[in-house]
Amino acid sequence: MIRPILVANWKMNKTVSESLDFVSRLKQLVIGINDRQVVIAPPFTALYSVGATLKASGIGLAAQNLSENSDGACTGEVSARMLADMGCTYVIVGHSERRSLFGESNAVVCAKISMALQFGMQPIVCIGETLEERETGRTFDVLARQIKEGLHQIESSDIRHLLIAYEPVWAIGTGKTATPEQAGKAHAFIRQLIEKSYGKEPASRLPVIYGGSVRPDNIGKLMAQDDINGALVGGASLDVDTFAKIVAF
Ligand code: PGA
Repeated sequence: MIRPILVANWKMNKTVSESLDFVSRLKQLVIGINDRQVVIAPPFTALYSVGATLKASGIGLAAQNLSENSDGACTGEVSARMLADMGCTYVIVGHSERRSLFGESNAVVCAKISMALQFGMQPIVCIGETLEERETGRTFDVLARQIKEGLHQIESSDIRHLLIAYEPVWAIGTGKTATPEQAGKAHAFIRQLIEKSYGKEPASRLPVIYGGSVRPDNIGKLMAQDDINGALVGGASLDVDTFAKIVAF
């Protein structure tokens, strides 16, 4: 049984003081909930103070992105070593906004996953099809390619450190959630792909979480699907009471 994991992806939102207000309240709201992992992904600017407030709370800290390069001449970038030093234990890699707005290819995603693993962080690897890809029947081909190319340099022994987030691009920030059945099918397919390449055992332990317009009123049905092990929540993670309801699904 995989412990459910609920990740708040704040994207480019919240100042340091807004972030601290949120996490101080969240800590109170989730007291006693120990059967699931909660993770907060604040913007880079709030990582340090959020990390300090979360210490010993059991709530994990994630970065939203990292550089595929090591420390050095890369103005404006943040390295895996810096993020690990900040206390991040997770990092989101290959979010669809990174892919579409910043041109991140599967090869870049692969390099970022390697960097995260090298510094002991668990990459939350985002994959998902666009509306056009779904409507032209290419969903599974797209997912297979993102997995194959995104993970091609990853050792089998590292698969147990990964999380995959299935985020259909058409469901992100649109209010259109994949039906639990659509999401369930995609998750089962992703697990089969991992099983084919890396074996049954690592595939059965791999958390595959869903993202795309997750809200308190749809999380229960999504989590009832066998292969859905958690959620990556954007818009609905910005309000602490709403996110706490999702955590308590
Ligand atoms: P959303 O975003 O919940 O606002 O759809 C999810 C995500 O982008 O991770």
